[in-house]
Amino acid sequence: MRSYLIAGNWKMHTTPADAKTLASAIAEKQMFLKPPHSVQTLICPPYTSIGAALEAVAGKGILVGAQDCHSEAKGAFTGEIAPNMVKACGCSHVILGHSERRQYFGETNSLLNQKIRAVLNEGLVPIYCVGETLLERKQEQTIAVVRSQLVDGLKDVVLQSASKLVIAYEPVWAIGTGLAATSDQAQEVHAAIRGFLKEIFGAVGEQILILYGGSLKPENAEELLAKPDVNGGLIGGAALQADSFAAIIAAACKLAVS
Ligand code: PGA
Repeated sequence: MRSYLIAGNWKMHTTPADAKTLASAIAEKQMFLKPPHSVQTLICPPYTSIGAALEAVAGKGILVGAQDCHSEAKGAFTGEIAPNMVKACGCSHVILGHSERRQYFGETNSLLNQKIRAVLNEGLVPIYCVGETLLERKQEQTIAVVRSQLVDGLKDVVLQSASKLVIAYEPVWAIGTGLAATSDQAQEVHAAIRGFLKEIFGAVGEQILILYGGSLKPENAEELLAKPDVNGGLIGGAALQADSFAAIIAAACKLAVS
């Protein structure tokens, strides 16, 4: 049976009340889908809505994660949130290195390396995002860019098991544009990422989940998720509606048992 992780990145959307409504609606739809154990679902609200989301999905088989965190455990870092705070709230995962963090907040591979190690130390699962810009793709730099994001971001990272780390391939040109990568484009990069993960981690790299993100929606979910190295999705826009998010979960359920 194939394993999938279907993760919603809510970005800067939802007050606690909105989060409660959305998370409850997703939980209700998921109850009807009855996903097999190999299909996990995760929602990542803004920090201030994590509590409300967790309450809404308690006992309903939906994981909750954060969208970022700081690399230090505590200290004078006004406005920041430490990994242990995210953990103590009840989160299981933390998205790190999303292209919006890289682009608007200047996050570098070396900073992300510190964050990844801090998150792992806390027993949280980082979802480390990589992906090329349109210019880099046009210049045929995609594989080189993704390779250096992985090699630098995962430097000196020690993994106890494959389940401790998730990678998300998100071509920057596909995020929020409605223009997803084709399933062949995605598979090509995912296969390259699989190879790099095996170089970095050895046999463990074979089992690490690699999610696709960038305009993933009900219309293209089944085709993308059917590709051998696509192990789930990181979903922005389509994760903000219970119907569309549930339709993507349904596609994963169908493929997992087929
Ligand atoms: P999108 O966002 O699904 O709206 O393209 C994906 C992401 O940014 O993680």
